[in-house]
Amino acid sequence: MKPGHTEIQLTKVEPASLQSFDTLYIKTYGCQMNEYDSSRMADLMQQAYGLKLVGTPEEADVILMNTCSVREKAEEKVFSELGRYRKIKEKRPDMIIGVGGCVGQQEGDRIQKRAPYVDIVFGPQTYHRLPELVKQIRRERVRITETDMPEIEKFDHLPKQAAHGVSGFVTIMEGCDKFCTFCVVPYTRGPEISRPVEDILAECRELLAAGIVEISLLGQNVNGYRGEGPDGEEWDFTMLLYAVARLPGLKRLRFTTSHPIEMTEELAIAFAELPQLMPYLHLPVQSGSDRMLKAMHRGHTRADYLRIIEGLRRHCPDLALSSDFIVGYPGETDEDFQATLDLMREVGYDSTFCFKYSPRPGTPAAKAEDNVPEEVKDERLQALLELTREQAKSALDRQVGKVLDVLVEKEGRNPGDMEGRTPDFKIVHFRGQPRQIGQVMPMRIVASYGQSLRGELVIAE
Ligand code: SAH
Ligand code: SF4
Ligand code: F3S
Repeated sequence: MKPGHTEIQLTKVEPASLQSFDTLYIKTYGCQMNEYDSSRMADLMQQAYGLKLVGTPEEADVILMNTCSVREKAEEKVFSELGRYRKIKEKRPDMIIGVGGCVGQQEGDRIQKRAPYVDIVFGPQTYHRLPELVKQIRRERVRITETDMPEIEKFDHLPKQAAHGVSGFVTIMEGCDKFCTFCVVPYTRGPEISRPVEDILAECRELLAAGIVEISLLGQNVNGYRGEGPDGEEWDFTMLLYAVARLPGLKRLRFTTSHPIEMTEELAIAFAELPQLMPYLHLPVQSGSDRMLKAMHRGHTRADYLRIIEGLRRHCPDLALSSDFIVGYPGETDEDFQATLDLMREVGYDSTFCFKYSPRPGTPAAKAEDNVPEEVKDERLQALLELTREQAKSALDRQVGKVLDVLVEKEGRNPGDMEGRTPDFKIVHFRGQPRQIGQVMPMRIVASYGQSLRGELVIAE
């Protein structure tokens, strides 16, 4: 599907006279970039029309889906969810349904061919146009597909970000130029484009002024960031990190996702030098086999990756690591898979995200036969998940007895319990008070459970 703009006039339908136009429901799939985009869509629709977010599609006058097409399963969910919305629309034909995100970009007007009750299809780079598209639909009853890829203009059209809780997210770059053979992202998100430093700092300042104390910088390859600095020069990711870390009021800084081929020594040093930069890094490797890494067009070898990890740990011994893995890429042998298991053992991850290879239309890998049998993919996936469970458990167990700084985030599920995070992103429950939300408090870790820790405040107030 080429980027573009199409409109279909619905002849038999009268112009919409919406009885009510007050509420918005957004369903989000996919990565944190999509989470960020969804919250910005809510901000936009709130500013333009005063729409209020509601918790179920049944209550909504406008339903937006922000979709993901990274694996086939993710895409299938879109159409099954749309079936549910169709029933809602049968009862209230005046409501508006929009499908955005990566499936929107990839499938374009094919979505409306399959689901004609969808009013708007849009992509990750066009959602800032939603208010005008919605206006046009209300006036003229058209179906619109808007999947242009304008140069990152969307950021110039977004209202101030509404802050919620203690953590905030700021997209610093969009897209991907890496073209791993299995991946749709370069096609759905477009090329890598970095926002200017000043724009990013301004958005961070707004969040901090609204009470946010932890900021996560987002992008498909954040360490590939090359944006215009305030001095007119090109800044790289590390320079940006130092500038963000200096912002008054910022207690914690995180970022995701990084690519191994963009890792630098300076970035490793930043982990040691910047107290705000938390010791947690998601550095996807996908496979431990050189043959697979090459076939996937990852641009680095197993040895390169291990060298990077070694450098990072030299500068930041407490660094917690996570990675993505794919099993069953075309041609993956038992030996290749053993190399992946072995790399996982050698590195030792605090968490991982493991996926069965899923051929994606339009990607180079999809031309090869998807020749690893499903049961073999299943077995390999189970083996990685098993090792991940062991490693995650030992990462949690290792914290017991330590005193760690915990950022208090929210009330826990049990009465009297509060929930926070350690610097390396582990969840801690403790007896505390809601007024502690937003504070960083030293806590002795007294127990470790399957997925979280138990802490006790070191200094009683
Ligand atoms: N930019 C990030 C992640 C992008 S997508 C990176 O470079 O790592 C998130 C993860 O989905 C990928 O890391 C990969 O593990 C997985 N993924 C992407 N395409 C896939 C496919 N076709 N089949 C299975 N997993 C896939
Ligand atoms: Fe996809 Fe590779 Fe780009 Fe990550 S680096 S988004 S896996 S093409
Ligand atoms: Fe999915 Fe698009 Fe993110 S394909 S992972 S929502 S960039």
